[in-house]
Amino acid sequence: MTKTILVAYRSHYGSSRRYAGWLAERLHCPAVEWDQVRPEALAGVQTLVLVGGVYAGCWSCASGVKKRAAQLAGKEVVACFCGLTPREEVDLNALKGQDLPSGAAAFWLPGDFDFAALGLVHKGLIRLARRDLLGVAVRRADEGELAPVLAYLQGAGAQR
Ligand SMILES: Cc1cc2nc3c(=O)[nH]c(=O)nc-3n(C[C@H](O)[C@H](O)[C@H](O)COP(=O)(O)O)c2cc1C
Repeated sequence: MTKTILVAYRSHYGSSRRYAGWLAERLHCPAVEWDQVRPEALAGVQTLVLVGGVYAGCWSCASGVKKRAAQLAGKEVVACFCGLTPREEVDLNALKGQDLPSGAAAFWLPGDFDFAALGLVHKGLIRLARRDLLGVAVRRADEGELAPVLAYLQGAGAQR
């Protein structure tokens, strides 16, 4: 039986939005901003894929998950964390600790970063906490990175 899937995203600088768009294309489902998803739209969904950026260790979709905990009960949730940290250094279990429903699947997606394009607050944070990133611009978001997420969603195995 085909699952009803919704992809929702929260993105400041575009990487999570691009991943959400690629997923929606491949899964033939909508991709919408997580803040815009109304309870009635969520009601008919079996699988919710959330794609959000990680900023100072915090996942952009986390607060929405907490607020909507009752609406998410009984649904399959797939969390995609998008960030700059090299995959081998990422602690997915720690990220999953951010208010995700138990049993949610979690995946890491490499994101782009461009210091020059950051908003003032984010520039300030980077100046304070990550001086190594001053002036840095890297492009890491790539559709191919979604292979494990698609394999999981299409039932070919739960690679995390
Ligand atoms: C203020 C700030 C803090 C960040 N903190 C982290 C972090 O803790 N871990 C990480 O992997 N990436 C971090 N990043 C990089 C972003 O996660 C990365 O740029 C990602 O692509 C952002 O997603 P978006 O393009 O959907 O907004 C940070 C970026 C900014 C601007």
